[in-house]
Amino acid sequence: MKQLRHLMSPLDFSTEELDKLFTLAEDIEKNPNKYAHACDGKKLATCFYEPSTRTRLSFESAMLNLGGQVIGFSDANSSSAAKGESVSDTIRVISCFADICAMRHPKEGAPMVAASRSSIPVINAGDGGHQHPTQTLTDLLTIRAIKGRLDHFTIGLCGDLKFGRTVHSLINALVRYSDIEFVFISPEELTIPDYIIEMLRDKKILFREVRKLEDVMPTLDILYMTRVQKERFFNEEDYVRLKDYYILDKEKMELAKSDMIVLHPLPRVNEISVEVDDDSRAVYFRQVQYGVYVRMALLLTLLEIDVHEQDRTTCN
Ligand code: NCD
Repeated sequence: MKQLRHLMSPLDFSTEELDKLFTLAEDIEKNPNKYAHACDGKKLATCFYEPSTRTRLSFESAMLNLGGQVIGFSDANSSSAAKGESVSDTIRVISCFADICAMRHPKEGAPMVAASRSSIPVINAGDGGHQHPTQTLTDLLTIRAIKGRLDHFTIGLCGDLKFGRTVHSLINALVRYSDIEFVFISPEELTIPDYIIEMLRDKKILFREVRKLEDVMPTLDILYMTRVQKERFFNEEDYVRLKDYYILDKEKMELAKSDMIVLHPLPRVNEISVEVDDDSRAVYFRQVQYGVYVRMALLLTLLEIDVHEQDRTTCN
């Protein structure tokens, strides 16, 4: 039997495979019509046990752009999980309805459990505070498209580095490229987990941990802002105390390089003042668009659909 391919972590793809994926995403951006029927007759199931706007709609939009269809649920309470069904059973059922599944779950590892029981490809669309590989693909494509490279830069990651799964996934992916220096900007209570620090030390990758964003602004090529992850806090008081710790505003942007770019996985709460939106270096809304292209490329790749191959078959 052919081995099914899932996406659980950005490391599931080699850097060469990522390159291919990004090149495909860029071709999709340039020639959308070529791909408009690539997934005719295919169905994507979006199984979201945790709130999401961007990721779920981005997946749905990606499948619709490819001519496929979408089924699914956006709330655990409206699925059989509310009746006590396990993710293993749910995915076996979903496998009878759809060709591919994107799953978000508050429990770390839940999409992995699903993948181990699934007969269709499963994509981890975010599991607890752990990983968010398709956001990472989005971030990497955005950096590659705007900066023209995925190596030789200093990236500042700012905000909730403890619970922010997009941060954990992005660091994991970036350590495979050369000459990347990390600057971690967070309050004491929300520093990057120890296992990541150990991994960076093991690989001898340069990093710094700081508290003040202003101090490091001039050194950054990329600034990745994140919100404080309210839903992962145990008490409201801590959240209220930390939520406005960093606010990126015009004044701070003046300290940055003229070609520094600001990314944010969104949703934004208060950490980027709206006055920054008009700065050409603020690319977080363009990032959302890249997210659709890269998810289109991912669906095609995991479903093993080759548009050029399809063209050849139609011509013969
Ligand atoms: C992120 C997430 O869900 O982790 N959002 C997203 O998918 N774009 C970031 C966040 O919620 O802060």
